[in-house]
Amino acid sequence: MSLRAGLLLARAGEAAHPDAVAAFTRLAAAHGTPLYVYDAETIREQARALLAAFTPRFPRLRVRYALKANTNVEIVRLILSEGLAPEVVSEGEIRAALRAGAKGSDVLFSSSSKSPSEIDFALAHDVLLNVDNLDELGQVSAAAVRLGTTARISFRINPGVDPDTLHQINTGIPESKFGVHLDGGIARKGYETAKALPGLAIEGIHCHIGSQIIDPAGYEKTARKMLAFVRELKEELGLRLSFVDLGGGLGIPFEDGVPVMTPAVLAEALKPIWDEEIALLGYEPELWIEPGRFVVAQAGFLVARVNSVKTTPVKTFVNVDAGFNTLMRPAMYGAEHRVRVVGKDGPGTTLDVAGDVCETGDILAEGRLLPRPAAGDLVVFLDAGAYGFAMASEYNARPLPEEVLVDGDTARVIRRRGTFEELHRSEPETPAG
Ligand code: LLP
Repeated sequence: MSLRAGLLLARAGEAAHPDAVAAFTRLAAAHGTPLYVYDAETIREQARALLAAFTPRFPRLRVRYALKANTNVEIVRLILSEGLAPEVVSEGEIRAALRAGAKGSDVLFSSSSKSPSEIDFALAHDVLLNVDNLDELGQVSAAAVRLGTTARISFRINPGVDPDTLHQINTGIPESKFGVHLDGGIARKGYETAKALPGLAIEGIHCHIGSQIIDPAGYEKTARKMLAFVRELKEELGLRLSFVDLGGGLGIPFEDGVPVMTPAVLAEALKPIWDEEIALLGYEPELWIEPGRFVVAQAGFLVARVNSVKTTPVKTFVNVDAGFNTLMRPAMYGAEHRVRVVGKDGPGTTLDVAGDVCETGDILAEGRLLPRPAAGDLVVFLDAGAYGFAMASEYNARPLPEEVLVDGDTARVIRRRGTFEELHRSEPETPAG
């Protein structure tokens, strides 16, 4: 049986199966813990599921991958090889996309707060700048003139739509910090101003209403608003856009047996709205989408080892060698990642899986019914491929975990474990003596 088969068994709830035990034991022995493991084939499957759902319905299509979900260059390279294009939020992510082999002109750069040097860097690489506000617009125009180039731009629109997700990852509601609001004519003013400023080529329009969205209704509302606005831009400003980007945000199932919106369901929901609006518009821009989590989350497993188990008068804690410095999502969003105990099954006990960070809030899984592990056992957190390593830190002076990419029965290190020396890599040398 392959490593991949072992990973999939654990995913399916069979972490006590000998092949799952063999896979995780082998990975932990070779690479140590805590360890991020990604299954290449799952990433390919997810990328293909997106393309299979959208391509037949939207022949003029571009699917992007939001690098922030997982910025490892080998992961990005794999995703680009499936035909997705990069969407980035910083100079570091532009550089990651270029390292992974992307052309600068294929990169879309969205950030609500771009620094002057990030704008210059993007322009130098012909990156498409997704402008967040009118102040930034003026800066982009001036930078393009100064550099003797033309900035390719779109605007990030705040459509004022609530897709009903967690507050911290809800980005298209009126009080959110992102984008130019449709309300109050701000977005319209943006395009009007962009038409008049030098050094700018207006290419499209963008929005992103939030993350972990499991119902198409918010996308439907957004698509209607965006396309009606695109029509207004044509009729009143004579603008013809080459793309309409409806953002990322596709949710994944975080619970056993609870399916969520699939890409096909979303594509099917958008299709009649798109067709209707395109007929009114009189031309067809490309449809762009830019998911992050959907592509990589389910491919990722965080493997940790149990340091100790203790029962207090209130609870039983399983203390593991990972913490919110390794996987931030439970502490930051109250996210619930499924946990599998490798090699154990049978009746469960209610347990808290506690991290190794010295903070009360460092609980990776709370009140779960799990087989009781013992010190030395391995536990695995599912769906850790997105916003897992990407949000990890060295807090508490713990080096960053290793990342490995499993393909069939091979496991390749795609980022070696951090070292204690690296914790101080940018500090001054300790004076001799
Ligand atoms: N495009 C833009 C402009 C975004 O801001 C984001 C995510 C995406 C695309 C990709 O969204 P996705 O398809 O991954 O949902 N750290 C949080 C998620 C933050 C998402 C921020 N923006 C979490 O762990 O849940």
